[in-house]
Amino acid sequence: EKGGYEHFMLKEIFEQPKSVHDTMRGRLLVDEGIIKMAGIWDHIERFKNANRIIIIACGTSWHAGLIGEYLIEEYARIPVEVEYASEFRYRNPIITDKDVVIAISQSGETADTMAALKLAKEKGAFIYGICNVVDSSIARITDAGSYTHAGPEIGVASTKAFTAQLTILTLIAFKLGKHNGNLGNADFMSLIAELDAIPKKIEDVLSSTHELVQNIAKDFVTATNFLYLGRGYNYPAALEGALKLKEISYIHAEGYPAAEMKHGPIALIDENMPIVIIAPKKGHYDKIVSNVQEIKARKGKIIAVVNKGDTQVSEMADYVIEIPETSECFSPIVASVPLQLLAYYIAVYRGANVDQPRNLAKSVTVE
Ligand code: F6R
Repeated sequence: EKGGYEHFMLKEIFEQPKSVHDTMRGRLLVDEGIIKMAGIWDHIERFKNANRIIIIACGTSWHAGLIGEYLIEEYARIPVEVEYASEFRYRNPIITDKDVVIAISQSGETADTMAALKLAKEKGAFIYGICNVVDSSIARITDAGSYTHAGPEIGVASTKAFTAQLTILTLIAFKLGKHNGNLGNADFMSLIAELDAIPKKIEDVLSSTHELVQNIAKDFVTATNFLYLGRGYNYPAALEGALKLKEISYIHAEGYPAAEMKHGPIALIDENMPIVIIAPKKGHYDKIVSNVQEIKARKGKIIAVVNKGDTQVSEMADYVIEIPETSECFSPIVASVPLQLLAYYIAVYRGANVDQPRNLAKSVTVE
């Protein structure tokens, strides 16, 4: 059932060209120039009249939500807040019937997310679900939603569900933006054509980086700390990269917006600190270059995720992982793949149980 892979996690990482494609199937109609999502369309007035969108989730799904904030604010120009379900539910949040709440949950059973939704529903908000497990509790309590269709995710560390969540959020942002006029037709058409090509780019990344990342992982088996840095859309991708590493390898890792480094974490940097930096060409590249210079000056070990043909960051990096160029909004999908592989191989070389890390459960049904 692992399809020849040693672990479910590796199988699921390699399934991503297909799972992202499955998420778009029947929804992204490139030739006709439309995004078909009944859940959105049937309630388009709720979205159109929304004061704001509140995204509620936990863990990896919360990271997807942060990227959703960038997407929806950029393309649909609707204000978005992203909340940890566990914080939201206990802080007497301001919710009105003009709010749209989007819940993101792979399992659809997360207790805190469920409780936060019940609260929002009581206050009259419209509740939209992005779940992977069909007919799950969260899917059932929501007013409408879109399943991610990533297929069953068995590995406790979420991989293909995450990229599927990003795909759905991208479709929602583009659809809303097209509808409310914030995303012009020409831009819409070129963005959806590019989205359609993402599964192929994931496939390319898997084949071009698999062996390389495996070798990089060997050099970090005894690391005790890691920093992950990114800016813009890739700041949440850095958080997610760090979470993957800590949950399966038990190495302490932190994700940070690259510019926040100088407000504290830079004090940690010396020759023993590995730093993963996500630095694609599109997305504050020049700013990232100066962040990398600051790390280099302090002798941090730099693992850089860059676009093919990159020179500036690559010259300073100790390890270079190349990914294909995309518009900034798609880069977290592509950049996450080698980071999943990096976490996976470091954990495997440390002898950890990657599919069932200690203390973790696939669905967190208690708060
Ligand atoms: C990380 C992970 C957890 C889940 C979190 C939310 O790899 O698996 O952080 O993302 O428990 O779970 P769902 O998405 O099922 O609500």
